Amino acid sequence: MTGAVPLSPAPRVIPSVPGPPVLGSLTQLWPHRLRTFLTRCHETHGPVFHVTGLGRTITVLAGPDANVFAMKEGHRVFRSREAWQPNDQAFGVNRSLISVDGEEHRAFRRVEARTYTRSYLLERLRPALAVVAEDLSALRAGDALPVAAFCKAVITEQLARVVVNGTARPFLPDLLTFVQTTLMVRVTQQRPALAEHLPAFRRARTRSLRMVEDLIDEHRRHTPETAGRAPDLIDDLLAAQAADPAFWSDLDVRMAAIGAFVAGMDTAANTLAFVLYRLGRHPEYAVDLMAEADRVFADGPPHPDVLADLPHLHRFVLECLRLHPIAPALTRTLTQDVTFAGYTIPAGRQVIIATTVPHGLPDCYPDPAHFDPDRFAPGRMEHRRPGVFAPYGVGTHVCAGSGMAEGLILLNLAAILRTLDLEGDPTYQLREVARPTASPDDRLTLRVRSVRHRAVSLLA
Ligand code: HEM
Repeated sequence: MTGAVPLSPAPRVIPSVPGPPVLGSLTQLWPHRLRTFLTRCHETHGPVFHVTGLGRTITVLAGPDANVFAMKEGHRVFRSREAWQPNDQAFGVNRSLISVDGEEHRAFRRVEARTYTRSYLLERLRPALAVVAEDLSALRAGDALPVAAFCKAVITEQLARVVVNGTARPFLPDLLTFVQTTLMVRVTQQRPALAEHLPAFRRARTRSLRMVEDLIDEHRRHTPETAGRAPDLIDDLLAAQAADPAFWSDLDVRMAAIGAFVAGMDTAANTLAFVLYRLGRHPEYAVDLMAEADRVFADGPPHPDVLADLPHLHRFVLECLRLHPIAPALTRTLTQDVTFAGYTIPAGRQVIIATTVPHGLPDCYPDPAHFDPDRFAPGRMEHRRPGVFAPYGVGTHVCAGSGMAEGLILLNLAAILRTLDLEGDPTYQLREVARPTASPDDRLTLRVRSVRHRAVSLLA
């Protein structure tokens, strides 16, 4: 016996992703290439690695266990403020649903989430269908359907009519410019702050905020009782403000009302655009999908129960969410020292939870690059393992609108398939743009082979 004191094991050193001097690997964090980049790094470095550059260090947690960790421990160790508060400030507030945590977050979510659910949408299928019918009715055999623009127009107007009983048609370019530029300047830092001083941006900001302020005024004047309608998001916000005016300022109400567009517009539209891209690319699924769409509309406008039973359409959409998740990762700040996978990460560190890295791992999804909706069929259900499928994020801030998003995407896909026989452009190579949410670029079109049923018949 030597009397030596046993040494505690040396802390494991977190590997760093190499990159050029000064800029380091930080410049690889482009939104539309993020999942591919983080998946490659996970393969090389394992579940914890550093992305560095410009004097900054970000620690990435990746893989199914990272998602499970975020689900179980996130409420204790993650803070959202640093990632999202700069965005709030563009709207004149210092807090919002996504930038706060704990009890304050629960208070926002209790009020805002009700009108983002699938059950809320199911009670308003008709106004949602009316929008897509209007936009489809302009298309004739031989026309080219411009996928990205079509999806943005349809989804934005559906959110306006269903969630806030308004219209966004006259404001669509303003909303897109204002919301996209603000996120790119303040959240993803893809654009310089100067972008917010350009006249086109300032005009778009003024018009977008005025649209929401006018809607709020309208809701104050005509309550659900006097107008004879069911309460929508703005009614819920005004009721919450009346019950607790110290919590809800007028600016908080305005932020939450425009939040439907900030959170829902590009996310759902771009996902629908990827679904249509896959539709053009995989004609082998068209027969089953069209048959299901015909069943949806066989007896006139769909009954809510029918939307719950669309196995082919649903699997097709889930596979698109797996391969084209438009929000590939989350950014947070650690509120305390954390040990994960044997590594210790200090309090105050900015972390990225690479939520969708498992979508591309062969251990989770065999032959992961292969488009195969049947992964989600009974008997396979490859997504039903902890932490492997997270297109809507994980933890306390998990998407509040996933029910609304999936409902709208399914409804629109069924309506499009019922109305048009579409054909993909075999020469189109997928090119993605990120403003900041990833989308197929504007060159993606689908050709209308024939009109199967008149669009107005969707509502007949
Ligand atoms: C396919 C479409 C969508 C995808 C993939 C998606 C994805 C996400 C993700 C990943 C988050 C978490 C962000 C974070 O934690 O930092 C999130 C949050 C959120 N989403 Fe969605 N989203 C979609 C559509 C929608 C829609 C249509 C709405 C509402 C109209 C919506 C409302 C929200 C809200 C309110 C939050 C913040 C929740 C909170 O902080 O508690 N989303 N979404």
